[in-house]
Amino acid sequence: MTVLILYFSGTGNTKFIAEKISRKLEEGDYTTEASSVETFDPEDVDGYDLLVFGYPVHGYEMPSFLKSYLSDLSLLRSKGVIVYSTIGYNGGNSLRSTAEILETEGFKVVGSEEFRMPGNDGLIISGKESDTVREVLDTDYNSSPVINEKVSNIAQRIGELAGNKVDENEVLKPEKKFTYVLLTPLMKLAFYLFEKIFVGKFRADESCVACGLCEEICPADNIELNNGKVAFGDDCYFCLRCINQCPVEAIQISRFTEGKFRFKGPMGNYRPDLLEQKN
Ligand SMILES: Cc1cc2nc3c(=O)[nH]c(=O)nc-3n(C[C@H](O)[C@H](O)[C@H](O)COP(=O)(O)O)c2cc1C
Ligand code: SF4
Ligand code: SF4
Repeated sequence: MTVLILYFSGTGNTKFIAEKISRKLEEGDYTTEASSVETFDPEDVDGYDLLVFGYPVHGYEMPSFLKSYLSDLSLLRSKGVIVYSTIGYNGGNSLRSTAEILETEGFKVVGSEEFRMPGNDGLIISGKESDTVREVLDTDYNSSPVINEKVSNIAQRIGELAGNKVDENEVLKPEKKFTYVLLTPLMKLAFYLFEKIFVGKFRADESCVACGLCEEICPADNIELNNGKVAFGDDCYFCLRCINQCPVEAIQISRFTEGKFRFKGPMGNYRPDLLEQKN
């Protein structure tokens, strides 16, 4: 069985989980391809038997730009999809709503998992010596029993499907958590206001060395470097990649991020500039 693991990862958490799933499956003799949606052509899905799809939760939801990408993954629709999310603190009903989007697009959801990881939103306003940052830096995410168990659950589910031990037509939608049915609209409103307020507040300060990295790695093509000056547009995904990756920490959102921590992924080595170009 050949498994395609597609993910979007602003700051490295979701990619880290994709790679763990890939390694686990390859131990079990599966062939896998783990690829960012930024570099994988959605038309190029021949030869894959199952899709694993991962995303970071933004305001209790999947980032909205991923919806149109899913619409383009047409050839995989008749096959199963296992969906996973990464969260910082609470994902609300995001897995459930993503499963509903996938179903509307014609996919069959056959499993799901939610992974708690460092919250990239809180980290960019946390002091470099704060307890929050210390805890993230001191945690070995690779050996986390909770993360490893969830990765194993995904591998086990794929094993059951591959071995025809379960009905492949059985849809396993994530459960709806009723506590969040009321909270979700409030969270959506808060996130909408957050986006409106902060979309115009990104700036590169005087320490910018015009290296061009932010322009190169922005997944939304929302950054332009002209005559040594960095300009941000209004089409931001709020993935926080640019602010965390700038080599001289020049990118700020308002004043809140000045002198604060920059997150380079759970292992401290996330390099979105090295995401493999597949086509
Ligand atoms: C704009 C924004 C909104 C977020 N909203 C939530 C949220 O509603 N719940 C949550 O638990 N984490 C939230 N987070 C934290 C991310 O989901 C979490 O850190 C995720 O693992 C990041 O994955 P990535 O490193 O692959 O981008 C948010 C992060 C951002 C940037
Ligand atoms: S990554 Fe940082 S230093 Fe490089 S151009 Fe962007 S803001 Fe300037
Ligand atoms: S400008 Fe927005 S979309 Fe682009 S890298 Fe920065 S946060 Fe992400």
